[in-house]
Amino acid sequence: MPRLTDDPEEGQFSRFNSRYNLKKIAIIGGVAVVGLLGLTAVYTTLKGDDLQLGEPKCPLPAYFSANSTAITDRSKQFLSDKEFIAQSYEKLSQAVKVPTEVYDGQPEVKDHPEVWAKFGKFHHYLEKTFPTVYEHLQVDKVNTWGLVFTWKGKNADLKPVLLTAHQDVVPVQADTIKDWKYDPFSGHIGKDFIYGRGVSDCKNLLVGLMETVEQLLADGFKPQRSIVLAFGFDEEASGGHGARHISHFLTKKYGKDSFYAVIDEGSSGLIKGGSGQYYAQVATGEKGFFNAEIQLTTPGGHSSVPPDHTSIGIMSSLVKLLETETFEPILTDENPTMGFLQCLAEHDTSLPTKWRSTILKAVHNKAANLKVLEYLSSSKLSKFLVRTSQAVDIIKGGAKSNALPEHVSIISNYRVAIGSNVAETVDHVSSKIQRVAQEYNVGYVDASGKQVYDISNSNGYFNMSVLTPLEPAPLSPTTKDSKVWMAFGGALRHFYKNVVGIKEEVIVTPGIMTGNTDTKYYWDLTRNIYRFIPGYTDTVTSLIELGIHSVNEKLPKVSHLHVIAFYYEYLQAIDKEADEE
Ligand SMILES: *[C@@H]1O[C@H](CO)[C@@H](O)[C@H](O)[C@H]1NC(C)=O
Ligand SMILES: *[C@@H]1O[C@H](CO)[C@@H](O)[C@H](O)[C@H]1NC(C)=O
Repeated sequence: MPRLTDDPEEGQFSRFNSRYNLKKIAIIGGVAVVGLLGLTAVYTTLKGDDLQLGEPKCPLPAYFSANSTAITDRSKQFLSDKEFIAQSYEKLSQAVKVPTEVYDGQPEVKDHPEVWAKFGKFHHYLEKTFPTVYEHLQVDKVNTWGLVFTWKGKNADLKPVLLTAHQDVVPVQADTIKDWKYDPFSGHIGKDFIYGRGVSDCKNLLVGLMETVEQLLADGFKPQRSIVLAFGFDEEASGGHGARHISHFLTKKYGKDSFYAVIDEGSSGLIKGGSGQYYAQVATGEKGFFNAEIQLTTPGGHSSVPPDHTSIGIMSSLVKLLETETFEPILTDENPTMGFLQCLAEHDTSLPTKWRSTILKAVHNKAANLKVLEYLSSSKLSKFLVRTSQAVDIIKGGAKSNALPEHVSIISNYRVAIGSNVAETVDHVSSKIQRVAQEYNVGYVDASGKQVYDISNSNGYFNMSVLTPLEPAPLSPTTKDSKVWMAFGGALRHFYKNVVGIKEEVIVTPGIMTGNTDTKYYWDLTRNIYRFIPGYTDTVTSLIELGIHSVNEKLPKVSHLHVIAFYYEYLQAIDKEADEE
């Protein structure tokens, strides 16, 4: 998972890592909390309406075509065979023991190979642990430490599937080591959990994929559709050294739109619904991202004869205005949050009829849409699923108590809502700067370099720049017309119901990530990008307890087996699926 901010240039943000948990909840639990637990406040204010389900918005994908007893039984063995289970935990534990921490702003691999050399140990570990994978698959090392494994399919006409994970982990902060129950790199295998940095983010996925391929090889599987595994090595520092290069490599080799699907880390596990059913929320969209650097340069002078407002005072007015006039909520049909809510409305019979009806109407009815927005906005956990977020994270200015500050700057971080875009968000910020510039009679040069107000103004001038902009991710298809989505969803349902043995209904739904994974480099390879790690976590609390990016990171042991058992089935299922036109 990405950290809260994924900007490689901003190393100073890393200490906020621990806040990541909030994001994790927002991704998965946010809507769940809102949707499933605390709706009463809004019911009373809803106008009466009958429930009209109409055309299903949240179809239950059919079990996949490879629904064979042999495969299902074999898959079940991964969850029950004691010998297999013990060696599987051991493999994950060993992987955690190899530290692969990455920091923001690391230099290019070719300039400073020594900084990245730790990945050599990890490669060595993989090669030693999965010899058959190395023997049978083509192994390409991209930008030295990126790993691409290719299992060539017999049918070259079928698009390959790309399964991704990352080798790196977020750093363990030295002053937190005392708070770890077990050494973060001990890979401790406890009664219910395996512990350590990266155990759930996401060496579990990486090792699980390797184990799956190992098992498929052992069982004599010969794919028709090529299977490509790609493991970047700096996802936690924005992926510029790993996934970015892997993306170039794959695009050069296969071309654009050349993959059947990309399946990456993302949300994980199941959310338990009000009427007993479970939701597997697959992240099908990601918010956009940028930092705005806003500088204000003013004439210096002695503090004994100050102007009415120093640059610090003027900048403060701007910050106040930015925080007062924030972003409007927006919930369009394309926001996966809408898709999730529709799934709730359609399938959760414990929700009051009025509320279900309002959600279903929210796609086309303005009043209903506002009602839903109002509700989502009432909780900190869900409000940013439907609006652009803003956080003024850095301020610098002033040098001496008897000298007027000549230069003040802020960096404000934006996560761009689905339904909006970077340009619109930049315009919003720019209009606030414009107002303050006018009020205090200073110049303003905007992000495009245009002098909105003359910067030769003797009072000084604002200057805005946009750093590391990223648009919201293209939305992955989630309708019943998408064969790839239906096959993924069908495989998940089949897995949870037939292999894990969950009796209640399992509903596969779209969802949103408020951060970005390595998939931001893979947009051109396919429109079918799904971010989800199989596993079993049915409460919001347990997600917080996983300690991702924080102390005591851990993984429920059974969740690791789920990765293997699921992919074992999924890869065989899509081997029999045709490509989409
Ligand atoms: C195959 O799918 C059907 C539903 O279509 C299900 O009832 C059955 O249990 C599945 N069989 C296996 C072996 O998973
Ligand atoms: C505005 O800021 C950018 C980025 O710091 C800088 O490159 C540019 O020269 C500045 N423009 C002016 C007029 O100060």
